[in-house]
Amino acid sequence: MTLDDLDALMMARFSCRAYRSDPVPRQTIEAIVDTARRVPSWCNAQPWQLTITSGKETEAFRSALRQQAMSGAHDPDLAFPASYPGVYGDRRRTCGWQLYDAVGVTKGDREASNRQAMRNFDLFDAPHCAIVSSPAELGAYGALDCGGFVTAFCLAAEAAGVATIPQAAVASFAPFLHSYFNIPEDRLILCAISFGYADMGDPANGFRTTRAPVDEIVEWRG
Ligand SMILES: Cc1cc2nc3c(=O)[nH]c(=O)nc-3n(C[C@H](O)[C@H](O)[C@H](O)COP(=O)(O)O)c2cc1C
Repeated sequence: MTLDDLDALMMARFSCRAYRSDPVPRQTIEAIVDTARRVPSWCNAQPWQLTITSGKETEAFRSALRQQAMSGAHDPDLAFPASYPGVYGDRRRTCGWQLYDAVGVTKGDREASNRQAMRNFDLFDAPHCAIVSSPAELGAYGALDCGGFVTAFCLAAEAAGVATIPQAAVASFAPFLHSYFNIPEDRLILCAISFGYADMGDPANGFRTTRAPVDEIVEWRG
């Protein structure tokens, strides 16, 4: 295993926003979780817990979530950023426009952009969804550890030929998720990861995001 191998895996992964309907075998999902759980966590607390749906459970969840999204108010356990100032806003707009350009949403077409945003609540038609939660008492560090787990899950899945997308949008309906999946109130619902096999013919999967260069993100001392 070389850095080039890992780099190739990192370059291959992308957030998949259109899926085929065929399910991922349980054995493959278990192998992905088995690999992802190797990430480090503070005190080795391993705060992540997953609720993973398949088959009819995904279909029932998708339809309940969509209904919730059309009628319910956003109420995430972990407050969403109030704003994305400066360069963060620039990057957010850039990747948003990449998606809109790919799927043909034009500037000012609110109906089309809302329709694309609502695809989050179809789980982009993925056959599986994992809800990721962390104990509230572990606070920001629990969430930090879970962030590492989410990344590892996405990379392990990519290595297994399975496409993924982390979704904070799903976590915006936290009270509904707690009640629907019976996730205790003392756990913070952080995000979902929808996953399955990518529909590579769909334009939503036809673009790749960029990254700031190393010198922009490192202040070298010495
Ligand atoms: C914690 C987290 C939450 C995210 N939430 C959403 C989401 O709700 N909807 C969405 O379309 N993409 C979501 N994304 C995907 C990001 O937009 C994506 O990772 C970013 O634009 C970089 O693109 P890439 O993953 O294709 O490399 C999320 C990613 C992360 C890590």
